Amino acid sequence: MLPANLLFSENLESTLEQLLKGYAPQQRFICCDSTTATTCLPLISGFDCLRDARQVTIPAGDDHKSVESLSLLWRFFSQEGATRRSVLINVGGGMVSDLGGFAAATFKRGMDVINLPTTILGAVDAAVGGKTGINFNGLKNEVGAFHQPKAVVFYAPFFASLDQANCLSGFAEMLKHGLLSDAAYLNSLFKLDLSQPSAPAFLEAVRRSVEIKHAITSQDPHEKGLRKALNLGHTMGHALESLSHHIQKPVLHGYAVAWGLVCELFLAHRLLGFPSEELSRISAFVKITYGSLPFTCADYPYLLEAMTHDKKNDNKGLNFTLLAGIGDLRLDQTLYLDQTSDKALLEASLDYLRDIMGI
Ligand code: GLY
Repeated sequence: MLPANLLFSENLESTLEQLLKGYAPQQRFICCDSTTATTCLPLISGFDCLRDARQVTIPAGDDHKSVESLSLLWRFFSQEGATRRSVLINVGGGMVSDLGGFAAATFKRGMDVINLPTTILGAVDAAVGGKTGINFNGLKNEVGAFHQPKAVVFYAPFFASLDQANCLSGFAEMLKHGLLSDAAYLNSLFKLDLSQPSAPAFLEAVRRSVEIKHAITSQDPHEKGLRKALNLGHTMGHALESLSHHIQKPVLHGYAVAWGLVCELFLAHRLLGFPSEELSRISAFVKITYGSLPFTCADYPYLLEAMTHDKKNDNKGLNFTLLAGIGDLRLDQTLYLDQTSDKALLEASLDYLRDIMGI
């Protein structure tokens, strides 16, 4: 069950009008990026309830989730007389909700936020759960705050403009949710038409993923325990994403997460007996759906080093969430790079991924 502030809407105008009743009309702000300003903003700009809203556009792309964009938003709020009673409506994917959410969390010590996710990745991950932040000093999400949105509204027509690669990128987080929850949901994901992100069956899966994410983040909003489960696939995934940029073959976040899931399920198989038939089935699906990243064992030192930068590590080792089976979570599994057997196991998981990819 979803709480009342996570809304799947078929009539966005009336949903927003209801939500905005409590805010002074001159203090409504809309944040878009240069993509959603053209693809999604036109779907809402004629709404009566947004007639007086002031709109700001930031350049699209994760590079712009920066202190410069943050400063641009603060300056905009300041010039427009925003107050703690203002509301910011983020219209975009994770970049917009992370950046806009952090600007709102910090301006006047906190303005309200409504997220309108326009990507699948934004809908099933970034828009829900209150993580906000910017990249800093070459590190992703290095500075940020937990700031829960007042509401998140999911509206299928936004997803219709998504290209296939962005749809697949979001879908990787849905696979993660399937692995964290139950076989029935995981199996249903394999049957979806991944070229139709605004179709009813896909939206039903988005709803289920949002339910799973909400169930976890509402129990542990500040990631002291259970929320670490959402990092499944991400320790390896972030390192592979970073490598893809390093070798100038950048991939979208979800592609790296899908490959990271394969590596971490391999670790789970070896350490906790995660079933081999499930590992093979998911690996085959990831290979067909996400293709490959060209890397060799010469890149392993880079990947292992990149893993040590992950925020969820303590200074002693690499921290993973692993699964003993689908939905059977084992938090806080630590591997140590200075222990030969652990390092060999991590390298074996990369060998396995390269083997699956056929490279
Ligand atoms: N993206 C993982 C989380 O929200 O905790």
